[in-house]
Amino acid sequence: MKRVNFGKTGEKVSAVAVGCMRFIGLEESKRRDFISCALDNGMNFFDHADIYGAGECESVFGKEIKALKIPRDKIFIQSKCGIVPHVGYDFSKEHIIKSVEGILTRLDNDYIDSLLLHRPDTLMHPEEVAEAFDLFERKGMVRHFGVSNMNPMQIELLKKYVKQDISANQMQFSPAHAGMVASGIEANTLFEGSADRDGHVLEYCRLKDITLQAWSPFQYGLFEGVYLGNEKFAALNEEIEKVAKKYNLTAEGVVCAWILTHPADMQIITGTMNKERLLNIAEGAKVNLNRKEWYDIYLSAGYRLP
Ligand SMILES: NC(=O)c1ccc[n+]([C@@H]2O[C@H](COP(=O)([O-])OP(=O)(O)OC[C@H]3O[C@@H](n4cnc5c(N)ncnc54)[C@H](OP(=O)(O)O)[C@@H]3O)[C@@H](O)[C@H]2O)c1
Repeated sequence: MKRVNFGKTGEKVSAVAVGCMRFIGLEESKRRDFISCALDNGMNFFDHADIYGAGECESVFGKEIKALKIPRDKIFIQSKCGIVPHVGYDFSKEHIIKSVEGILTRLDNDYIDSLLLHRPDTLMHPEEVAEAFDLFERKGMVRHFGVSNMNPMQIELLKKYVKQDISANQMQFSPAHAGMVASGIEANTLFEGSADRDGHVLEYCRLKDITLQAWSPFQYGLFEGVYLGNEKFAALNEEIEKVAKKYNLTAEGVVCAWILTHPADMQIITGTMNKERLLNIAEGAKVNLNRKEWYDIYLSAGYRLP
């Protein structure tokens, strides 16, 4: 499995990470086997959040990895906090600490490898985030820190107070959701793609060595559905199939290759709970697309090259 840098930590992590948002949707009898399959194929990075399945995803995952007796340093566990259903977002020191204590209890672990702040809380006092991170570091509860869905200025604001490196930024990204590429390619044009919706987060993360993690790589919109095999994305599917044939990949593998070919050294956070699909995605990590293939897929998703 291809490995990518995890921020400036000096650690390499699997380029294909297993997202666990849908983990409780997987039949109980298949869960252990699914985790083993990921591990056996080099995918030892698991992405959680305190809200996935209202905490149940972490609880059942914690049980399965205990049962599998995986040495703790052979698995990389990331979780997130800061979204509070029916309230909004909460980056207060009190909430972050309570949330991480809950994560560790549910995972039945002494520490997590990475903690991300899930979605920007405009009511945050960054000093409080800094205090919470310092406490986690002191107590060995969290090894690395990061954010999700944040633009560069929000990260800079945090960094004014937080002394730990921001190692990762998890953002939605795929051929069907490539605004962070389009705003750069269409810079200074009057075309719609030039709209800066993310503060040029792609270039910022590359400059600062922050690992971009591509979430929902197969969904379009905000969980509107899967674009593969979807007639709304006929041209994109046609282009992906062409490339799939050339490299003997499935369509899922081509999407993985497309994301990982980008020189930003991204990680793909998959959401499938289907073993075969996961392996097909992983095959894509072995392939580097050439420029024409990469741009043809981009164009077929409806973006333009001015
Ligand atoms: N930071 C954030 O704000 C944020 C937001 C959302 C998600 N995430 C993370 O990103 C991970 C992935 O998100 P996601 O689950 O929405 O991603 P996804 O990989 O785009 O979607 C996976 C879902 O699509 C289904 N699917 C159907 N056809 C598919 C195909 N041809 N290829 C791939 N999947 C297909 C899968 O079903 P099967 O299981 O049957 O394959 C699964 O239910 C989550 O687990 C979570 O860790 C983060």
